[in-house]
Amino acid sequence: MKEYLIFLIFLNCINIVSTINDVEKIYSLETCNIPEEFSLITQREFSHRYGGKQTLTTPVVFRQLPINKQFLNMMQLDSILKRYGNKYITVTTANTYSYQKQYIKLNDYINLQRQSSAKITKWGNETLYWFGDDLLNDQNWLNQILRYYKSPAYIVDDFIQPSLTFGMGGQGTGVPFHFHGPGFQQMIFGRKRWYLSAEKPSFDPNETTIQWAIEKRFKTKQPFLYECTLNPGDMIFFPNLWWHATLNLDFAIFLSTFLSL
Ligand SMILES: *[C@@H]1O[C@H](CO)[C@@H](O)[C@H](O)[C@H]1NC(C)=O
Ligand SMILES: *[C@@H]1O[C@H](CO)[C@@H](O)[C@H](O)[C@H]1NC(C)=O
Repeated sequence: MKEYLIFLIFLNCINIVSTINDVEKIYSLETCNIPEEFSLITQREFSHRYGGKQTLTTPVVFRQLPINKQFLNMMQLDSILKRYGNKYITVTTANTYSYQKQYIKLNDYINLQRQSSAKITKWGNETLYWFGDDLLNDQNWLNQILRYYKSPAYIVDDFIQPSLTFGMGGQGTGVPFHFHGPGFQQMIFGRKRWYLSAEKPSFDPNETTIQWAIEKRFKTKQPFLYECTLNPGDMIFFPNLWWHATLNLDFAIFLSTFLSL
């Protein structure tokens, strides 16, 4: 009986260790199979190589694009907390189809997101995430921040109207697979891993990206997946209607430019 118990405890430890190892492995992923550009290219080059007509499009990662200094200064966490900590934001459950909303102070959100690194959460429908929009609260402070950001985005085919969104999330958080119009996202602080596919991947809409990355990325049949880790300064292009999921590998701050017709 005693041996049996010890054996069970032993098994349990292996389980915990393997989970921590799996998570650590994912946080240190650096591989990239997405085309990369190491400087800005012209609009013409962009359209020709990546953002042309639907059938020819592919994602691309621009490495190390400069971010203006004034904006970088504003984005320091202590500066954000001091200026905007008391602002209310709208957070949403991080699953693909159903959304529950809640209001929370930016201060409290940041504290929650910075603590969350130790545990991994399995269900996106039980995880709160800030997507950056705040149509229901005072948006002025967000617009003020965005005025300082110079988006390096291109226009994509007939999608020419940019709208900017500011986002932040803790280590291990992110958005499960979904799709929408084309756009760009630049990392300001922290690293983020992206997964993209022209075809629908195999995933549970309530499952967090980290859970999917551990359980499903290599263990279930998937269509061809592009994936890449973005570092601060890097910007990704996500094509129109492509499925994509994101995973913050650190506490991360990022700016998205969504394009509409
Ligand atoms: C979240 O989704 C999972 C799986 O679909 C389900 O088992 C769980 O009850 C859901 N949680 C909530 C709070 O609805
Ligand atoms: C996902 O979660 C929502 C809300 O918690 C629930 O209503 C829904 O049934 C779940 N979907 C799946 C596919 O499990």
